[in-house]
Order: sequence, then C-alpha cells, then structure tokens
Amino acid sequence: MAKSDPSWSEVDDYIVQHLIGDDPVQDSCLAANARAGLPAIDVSPAQGRMLELLARGVQAQQILEIGTLGGYSAIWLARALPDDGRLISLELEPAYADVARSNIERAGLADKVEIVIGEAVGSLAALQAKGLSAFDFIFVDADKENYATYLDYAVQLSRPGAMLVFDNVVREGGVVNPNSDDPKVPGTRALYSALQNHPKVSATAIQTVGSKKWDGFLLAVVQV
Ligand code: SAH
Ligand code: DHB
Ligand code: MG
Repeated sequence: MAKSDPSWSEVDDYIVQHLIGDDPVQDSCLAANARAGLPAIDVSPAQGRMLELLARGVQAQQILEIGTLGGYSAIWLARALPDDGRLISLELEPAYADVARSNIERAGLADKVEIVIGEAVGSLAALQAKGLSAFDFIFVDADKENYATYLDYAVQLSRPGAMLVFDNVVREGGVVNPNSDDPKVPGTRALYSALQNHPKVSATAIQTVGSKKWDGFLLAVVQV
C-alpha cells in the first residue's frame, strides 16, 4: 500500500487556509530552521495548532516539552500559556537550542520559555530533584527509544488530570511490526506496553495523515 498520497498535503493546505491563516512568525521559524540545516521533522501547522488548543483546554500554566528542535512546536505551545505561564523544553543539541531560542525570541515568547540543553533523561531527573511536580501538559517528541522512560517521568512530574501527548507513535504503520527495521519502533512499542493496564494513566492513540505523512499521536490523561 502507498505510504503517502499527495491529497493528504492538499487537505492540510485547506485546513491551514481556513482554520489557521497566515502565520509569519512560524513561517520565519521554519525558514530559520531550514537555513540552519535542521531536519524538517517539526509537527505540521495543523498539529501545532492542535497542541496549542489541547494545552488551552487543560488551562495549562506549566508545560513541559521533550525535544525542542528549532522551537516550532514550542512556539505553538507557548501561545497557549497565560502571561505568567511557563514552558520548559528539553533539547540534546546545543546548536538546535540556539536556533530555537532565536525563533522563540522573535515570536515574543522568550520570557515564557526556558530551553534546557542535555540528554532529556538527565534533565528530567534534575527537574524531579528540584521538586517540580505540577506540569499541566507534557509533549514528548524526542528520541523514541526512551519513550517508556519519558512516560514514567511525565507521570511523576505532572499534576493529577494532566494531559500527556506523544508524537510519532504510528510511524507509517511500523508500530505493529515487532520485527521492524526502524530502530525507533521498539521504543514506541514499549510505550504502548507500559500503558497497557497502566494504573494511573488512561490513553488512546489517533492515527494521522497530512503533510507529515502517516503517523499518529498518543494522548493520555493522568488519573485525578
Ligand atoms: N518538537 C519539535 C520536533 C522535535 S524533533 C517540533 O515539533 O518542532 C526531536 C528532537 O529531539 C530533536 O531536536 C533531537 O535533537 C531531540 N532529541 C533527540 N534525542 C534527545 C535526547 N536524548 N534528549 C533530548 N533531546 C533529544
Ligand atoms: C522523526 C522524529 C520526529 O519527531 C518526527 O515528528 C518525525 C520524524 C525522526 O527522527 O525521523
Ligand atoms: Mg515528532
């Protein structure tokens, strides 16, 4: 079966035209990312708006993101925050973090966003050691190999009722293949296994197609 169809992007364009409109800030972000040679693996515009709306829906004041890249999804998420809200975004690559900081500054969101450089597992342990435990919304979009570990930290760092969103949980259908040659698949499958009968988290996953091809989001809520 074809793993991509041009009509998926046409529909995404239609969605953007009607529901999102012009977004020069995010256009500049993507242009800066391309100039800096970052991979174009940001969420799509429609997905970014979805993240913003979900974060607004839980009235998020404290948001955690794992995997900043050039700050495209961070900008969407930070737009959901009230004036005194805060987004902490974790990124391994210092050069990506530099690009993201500049994009976030241009978006006028620098006072709300903190980027923490390093392996996310270490950064998460540091957040936990600081006693942080009240994130309202957590978006996980970094190395898929660690997704089950990120789930554990997400549960510990979030308030009851928090929403967790994991990107790239379908991978063109690869997720159902226990012998996939995509090295990211086993980590993603470990996330599903960890959530099977999880005592504190209800979850679902929604498949998506669009300009970012066939993939999906796993949505979860931590028990109140
Ligand atoms: N959320 C971004 C895209 C993130 S791409 C957006 O939609 O705009 C995944 C990012 O995770 C990359 O920037 C990569 O450098 C980062 N990453 C990969 N492994 C990591 C790790 N172990 N710790 C922290 N970040 C990591
Ligand atoms: C990849 C990572 C992502 O977060 C994504 O949305 C798409 C692709 C990747 O590492 O290939
Ligand atoms: Mg992703």
